[in-house]
Amino acid sequence: MLVLGIETSCDDTSVAIVRDGREVLSNVISNQDRFHARFAGVVPEIASRCHLEALSPAVQEALEEANVEPAQLDRIAVTTRPGLVGSLLVGLSAAKAYAWAWNKPLVAVNHMAAHLYAARFEREQAYPLLGLVISGGHTLLVRAEDPLTVEIIGSTIDDAVGEAYDKIAKHFGLGYPGGPVVDKLAATGDAAAFAFPRPLLDPETQRFRFSFSGIKTAVVHQRERFKRKDGPELVEDVCASFQAAVADVLIRKLRWLVEDTGITRVSVAGGVAANGYLRARFAAEADLDVVFPPRPLCTDNGAMVAGVAFHATEALSPRDALALDVESRIVLRGKAR
Ligand code: KG4
Ligand code: ZN
Repeated sequence: MLVLGIETSCDDTSVAIVRDGREVLSNVISNQDRFHARFAGVVPEIASRCHLEALSPAVQEALEEANVEPAQLDRIAVTTRPGLVGSLLVGLSAAKAYAWAWNKPLVAVNHMAAHLYAARFEREQAYPLLGLVISGGHTLLVRAEDPLTVEIIGSTIDDAVGEAYDKIAKHFGLGYPGGPVVDKLAATGDAAAFAFPRPLLDPETQRFRFSFSGIKTAVVHQRERFKRKDGPELVEDVCASFQAAVADVLIRKLRWLVEDTGITRVSVAGGVAANGYLRARFAAEADLDVVFPPRPLCTDNGAMVAGVAFHATEALSPRDALALDVESRIVLRGKAR
């Protein structure tokens, strides 16, 4: 089955063609970072306009690169939730139009399920499995029964992990997005230089909730309050110590869920899953079977959308698809439909 996947939930315009949920024939990504960089964050209105300009050429390019004619497609898949409403609307409207024009069934995809699915392009794991989706907009701890049945066990009560990376980078004037720069600087830093807080919240009532605004505030404003080894303060050390605090929290909470469920298969996905240090820390958990997506498929991409949509048992007719709408948020403690 050939699926064309469209992803526009945030600030990357991406279109991919994937065969049978496994083989990526093309994955075109039009990155908007240069338009958002001077604001050190995503400006929703700019993102929508960029999607509008980039989407049709990306569809053409994805078809050409895969050497596929529209008539050969079996499905069109599009991210409809969660995300920036304007951005999602551009993708969904285009998907409806293509479905109508080419007379193809349409599948509405949950962005979180898609992120998690990206790990399967690296290696397939049996279900059920546990997942961590760590991105610029979300921090979710989930349990997946299959690619499409993803139950949210916990999420952040304030900042997402990637958001903390981006805000720290902004504070130090390192540019946007912050994750890759912090990742690089931290590689030569001392992770034990600062003892930044590890907020685990109340283990009874908030066992699986995360909070990253405290670590971020400590890094940005309270560095003098935390223990520092002798010698000048280096931004590399701050970055490395920040990442150590983040990894400790993520792994501790994941461990609790492993204890509760007995499931040791774990997928870690989302933009922050590209992080070298985090990958090494999870790999060191030798009794867990942890899979990360291939690095280029950690951040937003159409391949994960087309991939997960292959597993949908039903698709909407072009006419029924016209009634689809977008949703900015997903319900906490519910199924990620
Ligand atoms: O998944 P994604 O592309 O978009 C959302 O759905 O949010 O994730 C983007 C986030 C940004 O916050 C970015 O700073 C972070 O992923 N990121 C990283 C790395 N590469 C991207 N964070 C840490 N280390 C990286 N290497
Ligand atoms: Zn994403």
